[in-house]
Amino acid sequence: MRACVLGADGQLGRALTAALPDAVALGHGALDIGDPGAVAGHDFTGADVVFNAAAYTAVDRAEHEPAAAWRVNALGPTHLAGAAARYGFLLVHVSTEYVFDGSASGPMPEDTPLSPLGVYGASKAAGELAVRAGAPEHLVVRTSWVVGDGGNFVATMARLARDGVSPTVVEDQIGRPTFAADLAAALVLLAGRERGTVHVTNDGEPVSWHGLAAEVFARQGRDPADVRPVSTAEYAAGRQQARRPANSVLDLSLLTRAGVTMPSWRDALDTHLGARS
Ligand SMILES: NC(=O)c1ccc[n+]([C@@H]2O[C@H](COP(=O)([O-])OP(=O)(O)OC[C@H]3O[C@@H](n4cnc5c(N)ncnc54)[C@H](OP(=O)(O)O)[C@@H]3O)[C@@H](O)[C@H]2O)c1
Repeated sequence: MRACVLGADGQLGRALTAALPDAVALGHGALDIGDPGAVAGHDFTGADVVFNAAAYTAVDRAEHEPAAAWRVNALGPTHLAGAAARYGFLLVHVSTEYVFDGSASGPMPEDTPLSPLGVYGASKAAGELAVRAGAPEHLVVRTSWVVGDGGNFVATMARLARDGVSPTVVEDQIGRPTFAADLAAALVLLAGRERGTVHVTNDGEPVSWHGLAAEVFARQGRDPADVRPVSTAEYAAGRQQARRPANSVLDLSLLTRAGVTMPSWRDALDTHLGARS
């Protein structure tokens, strides 16, 4: 597979670059996917597959700068889909469960109606639509709660645990973390065998943010009870926050049928924290 990774300096981009050491890795500085001239002028000759891990991921900030989020998350994929049509490469595009409102009960399958609650989710939903409409060969992978090499919830909780802080964390938003190394491995497998839209997260029982924080605290030698639960409504009071889906659990049946097995998030958390201790 002759691959190219875009957004190569982000959490997923780094994991993809590690999984595909021969890939052409382009960080933000090397190719700005929101710049139509830069994408049109880039020579993708020789690439069989382009993984788009570039995104505007600041969920709260997006509410105040929608044009910036839209430029990367909606227009970027539009430009890349045009390049995919011209060069004939498979475009593997990564999206999010924030394209849903999270009102469904239980794990959400791929055909759940798009109904984003905020600007970030709306911009990502538009990106998905652009890829489906413009890239003749495409794979859209939705994921949730990404944890890799970079700023993320697990890193924050591990730091608070080490610093002796006892944080307050929401208990009524549930999901499953997705460790970037496992996501990258799944993307590479899926690129070789699936097209369309597929959900990928780590496996295991869904957990709340509070429950995940307590697991991180326990692994850092802290008392999990030091993480105090709070409702989303209480937490959001007085904060300028984007609305977030209560249910972030993505259904993995299609992934399983494609023959891709994901480690449980608890095992992946052990591996992740073990590698950093
Ligand atoms: N993080 C999560 O919890 C989560 C959850 C569900 C889905 N996802 C999706 O998973 C994918 C990977 O997320 P991630 O966690 O790896 O995000 P990340 O760590 O924030 O990385 C995103 C990367 O994209 C780069 N980027 C931003 N604008 C760009 C542009 N115009 N052109 C090229 N690169 C640009 C960023 O560079 P700069 O730092 O220089 O801006 C950064 O290196 C994204 O599609 C995201 O929407 C993430």
